[in-house]
Amino acid sequence: MDQSSIMKRIEETGIVPVIVIDDVNDAVPTAKALLSGGIDMMEITFRTACAAEAIAKVKNEVPDMIVGAGTILDKEQLLRAVDAGAEFIVSPGFSEEVVKHCNEKNIAVVPGCVTPTEIMAARSLGLSVIKYFPADLFGGIKAIKALSGVFRDMRFLPTGGVNLENITDFASQKSIVAVGGSFVATAKDIREHNFEKITELCKSAKEKILCAKQ
Ligand code: 3PG
Repeated sequence: MDQSSIMKRIEETGIVPVIVIDDVNDAVPTAKALLSGGIDMMEITFRTACAAEAIAKVKNEVPDMIVGAGTILDKEQLLRAVDAGAEFIVSPGFSEEVVKHCNEKNIAVVPGCVTPTEIMAARSLGLSVIKYFPADLFGGIKAIKALSGVFRDMRFLPTGGVNLENITDFASQKSIVAVGGSFVATAKDIREHNFEKITELCKSAKEKILCAKQ
């Protein structure tokens, strides 16, 4: 899928779960648990050794899931993620090299930007969506409101501290394209194979997002 189709899907889904896979065999059951809970996107983070393999497995075995790569820190990881089949790229910070390569290949990329200067750097490369991380520590909704007052053509994907208690507040902001986070599928729940719990958490999150957008 090209950059704009993925961005549309991120907005429609309203949430991008941040997934840490320790054991590659947990990737497909996690993807299926998310799908059963109504979430068809997942960001598998390059924080563990099996991330690329996990992305490839989900891509091949769960065709209804849109799988992206997260915590992409450099071009080497980016190339491995794309090679594995990642359909979108998320970074905790702004890397010009990563963004430029994604743009050349028409791959959706969401870099982390929390300062006006970083947002301007992303904007100057044609991006209109940035990750705001860690959202809770960088001023949360108050900061996003202030930034979106200036950057009216930019939309935000806050992650870091988003949970079921505050998701409605985040999701009801027009400037917030979707929320991200690990709260629907924590590394612990994945490790312990609490897949039904993950499905239930996804359903609750989706419900709250739908209410917030009304
Ligand atoms: C991220 O990579 O976006 C964050 O680690 C997610 O933060 P959370 O665990 O607080 O949801």
